[in-house]
Amino acid sequence: MEKYVLITGASSGLGKATALALAEEGYKVFAGVRKQQDKELLESLQKNITAIFLDVTSDESVNCAFETVFGITKNLFALINNAGIAVGGPVEFLPVDILKKQFDINVFGAIRVAQKFLPLLNQENSRIINISSMASYGIFPFVSPYCASKRTLDMFFNSLLIENKNKNLKIISIKPGVVSTPIWNKSVDACEQTFEHVSQDCRDKYEKELLFLAENARKNTQKGLKPEDIANLIKKVLEKKNPKLSYNIGKDSYFARIMSFLPQHMSNFIVKTGLKTRIKANVKS
Ligand SMILES: NC(=O)c1ccc[n+]([C@@H]2O[C@H](COP(=O)([O-])OP(=O)(O)OC[C@H]3O[C@@H](n4cnc5c(N)ncnc54)[C@H](OP(=O)(O)O)[C@@H]3O)[C@@H](O)[C@H]2O)c1
Repeated sequence: MEKYVLITGASSGLGKATALALAEEGYKVFAGVRKQQDKELLESLQKNITAIFLDVTSDESVNCAFETVFGITKNLFALINNAGIAVGGPVEFLPVDILKKQFDINVFGAIRVAQKFLPLLNQENSRIINISSMASYGIFPFVSPYCASKRTLDMFFNSLLIENKNKNLKIISIKPGVVSTPIWNKSVDACEQTFEHVSQDCRDKYEKELLFLAENARKNTQKGLKPEDIANLIKKVLEKKNPKLSYNIGKDSYFARIMSFLPQHMSNFIVKTGLKTRIKANVKS
């Protein structure tokens, strides 16, 4: 029997690597994209991929995507909620509209897609995999919108898991550490754009931190795990009869998890001191 999988945000990074890896493995993959050129490229790379237009923030787009999928199959083996952006900046100056955008994509988008496609996730062992993040542990200053979105995502879907009457449905959270994908540059570019419009006060107050974090984030496009590492983990999670509720991948993700066991004042102290030391070292070098 064919196994159909839907992945949101499959135009680049983890989503693209996962779409290709699963299609290679024989899954029939619906790959969510927003641009014609991404659709053409993905479909030319693997015959098992059907790229569909899917903007997770739009009811209309999700409904259209559903109609396309429903025209092909009445059963989905898995939904992979992957589409995401990362918003950064100091809480004191972050415009609320930008915070809303963060939640619109990473949280409400995933819920919108899950609500629509749940009736198709009706196979024994069907599953939703959420691409959460080590950020879900919430210990990273200056990317609090992203952290909050990932924590909220995990909370909503844990409730869904408990509430849902389909005992066979599995919901799994994958929490990668840093992965080398375009998300980092996009995030820094967006942050710089946002803070062009805020007062000089803000820029002066947080200049050192923002410069250091931007530099660090741009380095992440080179020094993280490979998207294929996450794709391989997803492949394994899809094969497991009884997957765990949550998976960490990357040393930094395990570290974040351990930090989350500490009393808050202690983890705050470690994070604050660590950041200060690294900024000082960065200024000297
Ligand atoms: N990279 C990391 O270090 C890391 C670590 C942990 C977790 N994650 C998570 O992994 C997921 C994928 O990120 P990535 O690192 O692979 O970044 P990426 O390469 O920037 O991919 C993000 C994907 O999300 C899509 N997207 C953005 N807004 C969308 C919307 N409104 N509707 C539908 N799709 C939308 C993008 O599509 P367009 O190309 O059309 O914009 C793109 O396909 C995210 O949820 C991210 O939080 C990443």
